[in-house]
Amino acid sequence: MNKEIQNQKLRSPIVTVVGHVDHGKTSILDYFRGTCVQEGESGGITQKISYTKFPLDRMKKVCPLIEGQGIKLDIPGFLFIDTPGHAAFTNLRKRGGSLADLAILVVSIKEGIKPQTAEVLQILRNYKTPFLIALNKIDSISGWKKQYGGLKDSIENQAINVSQEFNESLITFQGALQEQDFDSSLYYEVEDFTKKIAIIPCSSRTGEGIPELLFALCGLCQKFLKERLKIVDEAKGVILEVKKEKGMDYVESVLYDGKLNVGDEIAIASFTEPIISKVRALEEIEPLCFKYTSKKNIIAATGARIHLTNKEGILPGMVFQKLNDNLEKLKKEFKQELSTTMNFDSEGIVIKADSLGSLDALISLLRQENIKIAKSGIGNIGKSDIVFAKTSLESNPLNAVILGFNIEVEEDLDFGNVKMICGNVIYKIIEDFNEWREHKQKEIEKERLMGLATICKLEILHNFIFRNSNPAIFGVKVLGGKIKVGIPLIDGAGEEVARVKGLQKEKESVNEAGEGDELAISLPGTNFERRLGDKKYLYANISAKQFKKFKLNKDLLSSNELRILDEVARIKVL
Ligand code: GTP
Ligand code: MG
Repeated sequence: MNKEIQNQKLRSPIVTVVGHVDHGKTSILDYFRGTCVQEGESGGITQKISYTKFPLDRMKKVCPLIEGQGIKLDIPGFLFIDTPGHAAFTNLRKRGGSLADLAILVVSIKEGIKPQTAEVLQILRNYKTPFLIALNKIDSISGWKKQYGGLKDSIENQAINVSQEFNESLITFQGALQEQDFDSSLYYEVEDFTKKIAIIPCSSRTGEGIPELLFALCGLCQKFLKERLKIVDEAKGVILEVKKEKGMDYVESVLYDGKLNVGDEIAIASFTEPIISKVRALEEIEPLCFKYTSKKNIIAATGARIHLTNKEGILPGMVFQKLNDNLEKLKKEFKQELSTTMNFDSEGIVIKADSLGSLDALISLLRQENIKIAKSGIGNIGKSDIVFAKTSLESNPLNAVILGFNIEVEEDLDFGNVKMICGNVIYKIIEDFNEWREHKQKEIEKERLMGLATICKLEILHNFIFRNSNPAIFGVKVLGGKIKVGIPLIDGAGEEVARVKGLQKEKESVNEAGEGDELAISLPGTNFERRLGDKKYLYANISAKQFKKFKLNKDLLSSNELRILDEVARIKVL
């Protein structure tokens, strides 16, 4: 092992750069690196998580404040992780918590808190990750002039109208943060980083504020991380991506602790038994770029392509650890760690996500809302998920739903009556789900309340008389409410006609039909010509008792149903 690695006591902290899509995460990292990755991205959008090694000596160059202010850091540098804003916090999990030691939340001063920002705030809070806010794009404030005395000077010496616009945006932003229970201040007003979130206004376009951002990051690091950064012996990492195509046979990983050598055996936490594999070769990321170099050993925190002898069953988001006669211990620990992901409720919904990390994030947010989960999995929705969800249709239709996070849905899948809600913002999925459940709950209550009784108005379609009597079969259009087999009908004068014997819609027998449907109805003991020849409408008969019940539960009825209910009451003088 080389000497440098042998002597290293502290590892590089892992800093994730997170925030809403297009707020400037990649551009800020570009500024740090002196690269233009952002311009080369498809549509300027980051597609997957990537990492950058940032050595301390380079950091001191970009940010002379570090030495000028006498900050002493014994770390070798930082490992920054860029995340895609459109796909929440995927994969960023490690054993026992978040992969991130620190985070930079990037927010555009022009846009403030957006859905992805809110989601990230919640996840940072859940994981208790210390973070800073880079309030980016200050150059886009009309009239903003970069001053060369540093950021504080610049903020305090803008023209009055510019200063006003800046202050208004800042105050609105701080107010929105406060609503989420986060106390914040401009970085130079923060006395205690454990109590307040520091806001560093900046611009990745002009570079203004970037030294201050790095300086604050070092401050945060000094404050929070001393114990956490001591290197342990056992190598620990997380897999970001599994490359299986020809000529690309490795797992893209972050080694977040310890030292890993070629020839080491590792255990990867999978759903059943750990997957055991041997490190065939290592390629480590080079500082400040995306090139890889072959290495015999690597030290945390770093990004590396690990070539393994066995990749069967490995999925993105899985964590691994070096094997050291500790397999039995690891088995137990892995099992316990995966227990929240793998522990299902006896009744509940089905959820799918693209990786273990994103599945975990979804599960933890669903559990916070007391939503029960009966089955979860990684990958796209398959037939077996639908079959599973269908079993709830009878027992509890509110559970007959599949939520999908960051996955694709194949077009020819037949969901039947199972509801599917997919997306790439967890909050939106949960919001849509709660809305659907509320609506469904109302429908169920209505069914229960109505029993067989129903509100319904039918228009007789005199051009479609299929049979005059025994039974009479003719066409009707449902003008409102629901028609069901077995309910008694009355005419427009309130006189009883018959009970519905059968219904046929598009040549198929059905038990019920709703507003707008046109169908054939059969009525026993009725001679159409004599009894209904001059009638225009038919109504579901309702007793005075049922009428009262409906009126007491008005909020379960649509305005059309309420109108029909009143019409029937008038006809029958209820
Ligand atoms: P995703 O990866 O898609 O989530 O976006 P991102 O947060 O990485 O944003 P990105 O760095 O791709 O920047 C989005 C757009 O904002 C690009 O057109 C950048 O040129 C622009 N931009 C980024 N930083 C600044 C800034 O400081 N000032 C101005 N005016 N524009 C900026
Ligand atoms: Mg990006």
